[in-house]
Amino acid sequence: MPRDRIFSFTQDHMQAFTQELIQFLSIPSVSTLSEHTGDVLNAAQWVLDQLKRCGMSGKLYPTQRHPVVLARSPEVSGAPVLLIYGHYDVQPPDPLEEWQTPPFSPDIRQGFIYARGATDDKGQLFTYIKAIESVLEVSGKLPINIIVLVEGEEEIGSPNLERFLIEHREELRADAVAISDGAQLAHQIPAITYGLRGLCYLQIDIRGPRFDLHSGGFGGIVHNPAQVLSNILQRLKNPDDTVAIPGFYDEVIGLEQWEREEMADSPLDVEALKNYLGVSEFTGEPGYSLVERSSARPTLDINGIWGGFSGEGAKTIIPAKAGAKVSMRLVPNQTPQKIEALFTRYVKGLCPPGVSIEFSGLHHAEPVVVNRNTPSMLAAEKAIEAGFGQRPRFKREGGSIPVVNLFRKHLNQENILLLGWGSPDDGPHSPNERFNLEDFARGIRSAAALFYEMSK
Ligand code: BES
Ligand code: MN
Ligand code: MN
Repeated sequence: MPRDRIFSFTQDHMQAFTQELIQFLSIPSVSTLSEHTGDVLNAAQWVLDQLKRCGMSGKLYPTQRHPVVLARSPEVSGAPVLLIYGHYDVQPPDPLEEWQTPPFSPDIRQGFIYARGATDDKGQLFTYIKAIESVLEVSGKLPINIIVLVEGEEEIGSPNLERFLIEHREELRADAVAISDGAQLAHQIPAITYGLRGLCYLQIDIRGPRFDLHSGGFGGIVHNPAQVLSNILQRLKNPDDTVAIPGFYDEVIGLEQWEREEMADSPLDVEALKNYLGVSEFTGEPGYSLVERSSARPTLDINGIWGGFSGEGAKTIIPAKAGAKVSMRLVPNQTPQKIEALFTRYVKGLCPPGVSIEFSGLHHAEPVVVNRNTPSMLAAEKAIEAGFGQRPRFKREGGSIPVVNLFRKHLNQENILLLGWGSPDDGPHSPNERFNLEDFARGIRSAAALFYEMSK
C-alpha cells in the first residue's frame, strides 16, 4: 500500500474534507419527521453525488419512505468485495434550547465538529467516501471492489431495508461488510465491536372512561388509566432492577468466563462517567459489571409516559387515557418477536377488566454477536492499527443496528466488521452531538488501510 502517500494526502486535505462534512451535516435529514422528507432526499442525493465524483456508479432506490443509495466502484477483477453500510438519516435534534450552536449549523470548537449526525452517522460514514477519494487520487485505482449501501431509515428501525436486501441479494454479494456507526472503547483506545444488542420497542395505550371525569364525582368508582398504567410500569422491573416479565431471561446466552475477564479488563473510568452523565450512582442487574450491564445483558426502559393533566396548577380529573413507550434491549438468543409476546401477555394480565389496553410495535431489531476469528477481522485489526496508531480492543455495544442481522439472514454474510470511529462521549441522539476531527482523520486512514489489508 502506498500508505505514507495516502496518509499524507489525507492529512493535507483534512480542511477540505471538513468543509464537505459541514455541507453534509447542514442537511436536516431527520427521517422520523415528515416535514423533513425533502431534506432526507437531499441528503441521499448529496451522498450519491459524492460517490459519483469518486468514479462510482449508482443511483437512488426509492422505498415506501426514504431512498436507499447504492453505488459500486469500477470492477477490479479477482479482487475481494467490501460492502460498506451507513445511514444518512439522523435523529430529531430536540431539545433545541440545549444546543450551544444550532444542530444543523455545524460549528467547530476545540477540535470537535458539533452538529446532529456528526458521529451518528454522517461523520463516520463520510470517512469511507474520503478514503476512497484519497486512494484514487494517490494511486489511481482501488485495490478491491467496493459497494456502498447507505440508507435513510436507520433511525426509524430500517423498515424498508429488509425487502431491499432480498431484492438486491445478488448485487450485494461481498466478502465482508464494514460498518462504522459506533464508538471506540475509550479515549485513544480504538475497538472492534463484536456484539450489538437487539431491540423490542412497544407503545402501550390505556383507555378508561369515554372522557376526562371530575375526580370528586367519580373518584373511588372508576378505574383511573394513569393509575393502571403506573401499576403496570411498576411491575415491569423487580426491586433489584431485573426485568420481571416471566420468561424474559429464558433464551439469554450467558457470558463466558473469558468474555467476563476481557470486559473486566476494560479501561472504564467510573467517576469520569458519572461526571459526564451527571449521576451520582449507577444501577442495574446484580452480579454484573457496568460494562456487562450496558452491553451484554438485556434490559428494559420506559422511554416516555403521558396521561392526564400536567399543565400549570391543578386540575381535578380522572384522565380518560394514558400511555407509555417501553423499549427492551435484547441479547442473543432473545428475539424481538418472542419478547413482544411475553411482554403483551404479562401486561394484559396486569390490566384490570373494564379498562382497554392496546399495544403497538415501534421497533424490532435482532441482537447479534459476530465471529471474531476471521481473516477479515484480522484485516480490520491491522487497518485500525495503521490508522489509529494502536491495536484495537474488542467490545460489545449496547445499541442496535437493525440491518446487521439482516445481512446474516438474507446475504449469508458472516464477516461483519463493526468499526466504531466515534468516541464514547460524542453524544449521539443528545444535544451538542459531536465528532472529534482527529477521529475523523483516523477513520479515513483506517478505512483506506482496510481496503489494502483486504486486498492481500
Ligand atoms: N449508531 C446507532 C447504534 C449504536 C449506538 C451502535 C451506540 C453502537 C453504539 C444507531 O444509529 C441507533 O441509534 N440505533 C437505534 C436503533 C433503533 C432506531 C431501531 C438504537 O440503538 O436505539
Ligand atoms: Mn447510527
Ligand atoms: Mn442513532
